[in-house]
Amino acid sequence: MNKGIVLAGGLGTRLYPATKVISKQLLPLYDKPMIYYPISVLLLANIRDILIISDPYNLKSFKNLLGDGNDLGIKFSYEVQQEPDGIASAFLIGESFIGNSNVCLILGDNLFFGPGFSSILQEVSSNVVGANLFAYEVRDPERFGVVDIGKSGEINNIYEKPIKPKSNLAITGLYFYDNSIIEVTKNTKISKRGEREITSINNFYLKTNNIKVKTLGRGFTWLDTGTHDSFLIASQFIQMLIKQQGLQIACLEEIAWRQGWISDEKLEEHSSYYNNNDYGRYLKKILVSQK
Ligand code: G1P
Repeated sequence: MNKGIVLAGGLGTRLYPATKVISKQLLPLYDKPMIYYPISVLLLANIRDILIISDPYNLKSFKNLLGDGNDLGIKFSYEVQQEPDGIASAFLIGESFIGNSNVCLILGDNLFFGPGFSSILQEVSSNVVGANLFAYEVRDPERFGVVDIGKSGEINNIYEKPIKPKSNLAITGLYFYDNSIIEVTKNTKISKRGEREITSINNFYLKTNNIKVKTLGRGFTWLDTGTHDSFLIASQFIQMLIKQQGLQIACLEEIAWRQGWISDEKLEEHSSYYNNNDYGRYLKKILVSQK
């Protein structure tokens, strides 16, 4: 069974003052805290054993929000990242949590939405070898890790925030690795800015010919919440989808129930807890209609 890690660290300075005293990943995107969205991706990938990593100030709030996961038939553990010392430090903080398993890391501010995403996730998750990454075409690749793919589809290199990007394909913040990730992280040098860079690690897997990059095409949405405007746009996008179809997105209770991890009675309990709002009414509705 694969393990999952949500990295919800970082100073969030780009969103100051909104994130001065609260982690960005605790702020709501429309009707639920941002961290629900990456957690839902792990659940859809059939991952139920999840480590939340955050900074020393916010970890307690994540625990208050999510608890031990028992109510959802899943398991949440928690670890502190003392300093924002790079995405890949998650694999060292989580070393004993990962144990002998494969691991999926998702960044706490990454939001994915698209047709057939569950099947894609389950396919990748059930066959992890080396590094398995996802790319997505963006207008402003210089803000991300960027993959340079050659004419016959070969991956030439991955560049972190290149000034002159060789493509528009950004590497998203969703990474699957087999258990070698722990040793690879230990052997990867710390960068000039003092971080364990996920891009250096991915380039190691690339050099050793042990990487796959799947491009999420048109029709997919990979949303960014890095600026005040993109944050609001993400909220409006979610609101629009929920209002238009009457279907929830990243509703953890719904996913756990559909996966068969919680009973009808448990879902009923969840819906009563939120009985005075649309979220609770939605849970009631899916339970009654059983679809
Ligand atoms: C990080 C990674 C980058 C990746 C991005 C995805 O950047 O370093 O390679 O494309 O996440 O969200 P950050 O958002 O931490 O600047």
